[in-house]
Amino acid sequence: MPASANDEFKTTDLMTMTDPHPAATGPCSPESLAAAVAAGLDAVARAADLAELASVRTAHVDGRSAPLVLARRALGELPREDRAEAGRRLNEALATVRDAFTARLAELTAARDARVLVEERVDVTLPARRRRPGARHPIAVLTERVVDTFVAMGYEVAEGPEVEHDWFNFEALNMHPDHPARSEHDTLYVEPEGAGRVLRTHTSPVQVRALLSRPLPVYVVCPGRTFRNDTIDATHSPVFGQLEGLAVDEGITMADLRGTLEAFASALFGTNLATRLRPSFFPFTEPSAELDVQCFNCRGEAARQPCRVCSDEGWIELGGCGMVDPNVLRAAGVDASRYSGFAFGMGLERAAMIRHGVREIRDFVDGDIRFSLPFGIEG
Ligand code: PHE
Repeated sequence: MPASANDEFKTTDLMTMTDPHPAATGPCSPESLAAAVAAGLDAVARAADLAELASVRTAHVDGRSAPLVLARRALGELPREDRAEAGRRLNEALATVRDAFTARLAELTAARDARVLVEERVDVTLPARRRRPGARHPIAVLTERVVDTFVAMGYEVAEGPEVEHDWFNFEALNMHPDHPARSEHDTLYVEPEGAGRVLRTHTSPVQVRALLSRPLPVYVVCPGRTFRNDTIDATHSPVFGQLEGLAVDEGITMADLRGTLEAFASALFGTNLATRLRPSFFPFTEPSAELDVQCFNCRGEAARQPCRVCSDEGWIELGGCGMVDPNVLRAAGVDASRYSGFAFGMGLERAAMIRHGVREIRDFVDGDIRFSLPFGIEG
């Protein structure tokens, strides 16, 4: 197809000439700038949210390949005489797009803020979902109270396992397999039969463990759960807490026991209450005694006035105690000719029941927060 003269001229012109007027045709030309501004304004107007507007900024305002940024770079290549004029046009174009951008930014930010205010509105007049405060268990509170008293006297806290070996629970405590005292313990045995494992019936095995594992002298208190095959009623529970105390040192006598128990009794029931020891028997102490403390309610005046706390006895039975039997010391590897010691043990629920007038031991194991609450706040 023959080319017309006109076509001929155009082709030649494009092929042989570089841009004769770069300021008139390049990225800084009025047309290019107008197109860049139009595209920028259009994109700004279309941006529906702040995220979209952020990409408009890159594409049209200050991103590396934004047409107006490219135009600024091209400015340096213009002939000197065209630069000022092109620069002015470029600045105008930039200002137009920037202003539109800033205005849209303000608009979209205001819209977002208004939406967030509605969406995240909190009705402060609604009743709060209140969380009821928990409560510490009264036995835990009482245990801490007693333990604190002993720690203040230089004792340490010792613990032992609840599933105990027969040897620690009985044998080392001077209760051999056919000892009659064993039958009083209503022991719960752990399977398999004959393995010699029991649920500890008292905290006294911790005495033996403490003596075996600690250097002498030993001053320990051992609080913990104990278990007996008792039928549950108002004053009996198959699970109950005991607190044991043990002091083994040179020259310990019954007088030390007496003084210690007085401090213990006043921590529990208040100061200036008399204590008394009544002769008793435990296989692991010799001599043995029951510890009574004067009733804190009637102060021993029960004979004159009926007292519910001590059932008119004037005294409250607190626990057992005695001088550690030398056989127990020997079983735990202690030189019984050099060392002597005392031990005492008490039931925690019983003490808590007397202290707070609780009638039912079951309340301590039921786990009802309404029961625990008034105790849980005791310091
Ligand atoms: N372990 C004894 C009991 O459970 C109490 C006790 C402890 C008695 C320490 C004397 C010395 O009955």
